[in-house]
Amino acid sequence: MTGIIYGSSMGNTEAAARIIKDKLGDGAEIIDVASVSAKDFERFDMLILGTSTWGVGDLQDDWEEKLPELQKADLSGKKIAFFGLGDQQMYGDSYVDAMGLLYEAVADSAAVCIGAWPTEGYDFTVSKAVINDKFIGLALDEDNQSDLTESRISEWMEGL
Ligand SMILES: Cc1cc2nc3c(=O)[nH]c(=O)nc-3n(C[C@H](O)[C@H](O)[C@H](O)COP(=O)(O)O)c2cc1C
Repeated sequence: MTGIIYGSSMGNTEAAARIIKDKLGDGAEIIDVASVSAKDFERFDMLILGTSTWGVGDLQDDWEEKLPELQKADLSGKKIAFFGLGDQQMYGDSYVDAMGLLYEAVADSAAVCIGAWPTEGYDFTVSKAVINDKFIGLALDEDNQSDLTESRISEWMEGL
């Protein structure tokens, strides 16, 4: 069973999470991070964690609050994939940074992180979500490239 757990302030990350859920059907549950506890992170074999970036490079507010729950969860043996929403044009120095912060929060756990994504097709300067020249998960941009969201999600999910 896959848990899609998202934090969203204006609804963009939630909308992306719903597209992912529609593609996974009954094999997935979608949960707003505002309502999770550590046990929810432990209930699934696979987690797909989504966040937007706020401030300059900050986690979405609900994730900020629930990060300790993620960090205290036993994630051993789980697969974790990430997706992040941001605005590469306005925030080219912190594009989807929050996705990188989520990754950092679990990088030392016993989970296996999957779903790296190429940086081709984006125009930004730096991002905490880029490691070894790839995004650590799927980067989306509803502010500038909303027409690509659906196809990016489909292609990314094929590789998971
Ligand atoms: C005040 C403000 C600060 C933002 N800061 C960043 C940022 O540092 N990096 C980034 O990539 N996007 C940034 N964004 C863009 C949002 O992450 C983007 O609009 C996203 O789609 C919002 O998703 P949500 O509705 O799920 O919260 C910011 C947007 C606003 C309005």
